Amino acid sequence: METSQRTVLVTGGAGYIGSHTCKALASAGYLPVVYDNLLHGHEWAVKWGPLERGDIRDGSRLAEVFTTYKPVSVLHFAGLAYVGQSVLDPGRYYEFNVAGSLALAQAMREHGAKRIVFSSTCATYGSPEKLPIGEETPQRPINPYGASKLMVERILADFRRAHGICSTALRYFNAAGADIGGELGEDHDPETHLIPLVLGAASGRRPPLAVFGTDYDTPDGTCIRDYIHVSDLAAAHVLALRALEHGTALDAYNLGTGQGYSVREVIDATARVTGLDIPFSACPRRPGDPAVLVSDATRAHQELGWWPSLSELDTIIRSAWAWHQRGSSPRG
Ligand code: UFG
Repeated sequence: METSQRTVLVTGGAGYIGSHTCKALASAGYLPVVYDNLLHGHEWAVKWGPLERGDIRDGSRLAEVFTTYKPVSVLHFAGLAYVGQSVLDPGRYYEFNVAGSLALAQAMREHGAKRIVFSSTCATYGSPEKLPIGEETPQRPINPYGASKLMVERILADFRRAHGICSTALRYFNAAGADIGGELGEDHDPETHLIPLVLGAASGRRPPLAVFGTDYDTPDGTCIRDYIHVSDLAAAHVLALRALEHGTALDAYNLGTGQGYSVREVIDATARVTGLDIPFSACPRRPGDPAVLVSDATRAHQELGWWPSLSELDTIIRSAWAWHQRGSSPRG
């Protein structure tokens, strides 16, 4: 197979954000080749190109896939993303996220792949003193998950300087919602994210929501986050890839709405959207949760021309509710 500008290797493409991005890539005329070990990803979520099963740490399997498809560009989602788990088992996070990304970067170098968009996170900023959070905010992660993502940002910056592999890191705030067409949605095991848990509490499919902390220094005492629709994140990846192709991409972009909502506000919005009561109880704080995380995404607006269009809170919840109501079938 000839080197193709349209073929994009998507590691972790069977996962939540990766699969939504494959749909966006296909709409933009790319062929997403998914590389995924299906540990957290789902075979049913791979719909827009081939699936190659493989572990991100497996250099020889990566070499096979690079040899077969000759991708010039890579979108790198593969990795572990549970903050709490990363505190309990940091080695696993450094192994998958750091060693895995290094194996990928080496494979890119050996096979002449030139561009990579990396899934990074607002967790690289830790608990910043100043809000909203711009890209120049000092990166001081407070858990191994955030630290592992920051290490990969550094590795990619070094590979850019030494080997000319162009890269950009997209630092997501709180990804949420589901494909508006109903083809994809969030399906984590275990599920730890707020919106699916609130929806589960609403439908009775999950227990009442445990609100982690009601004594934060916020207007209603609960944590504030910046929720961004997963399809808006997907669109940003296509724009970042184009910027890399044109040689105009910067090293990192924050992706959020700049608008924060408290846990209480998410509960209220969910009650409004679903028309259901949300059973919940006040619980102690979850270790490692910063009180407020809100983005300044001006750089992504100005440099990438990216503007969220689906990230109004009710729209996010409505799309996630539609997905939730479909249950586990026909996904599994
Ligand atoms: N929350 C609850 N109860 C729950 C689950 C969550 O009150 O059962 C609260 C959390 O305390 C937090 C908010 O809801 O205040 C959002 O929690 P999520 O677990 O949905 O998201 P996080 O903000 O913890 O995590 C997200 C991403 C991570 C990323 C992190 C950066 O999922 O990948 O932001 O802080 F690292």
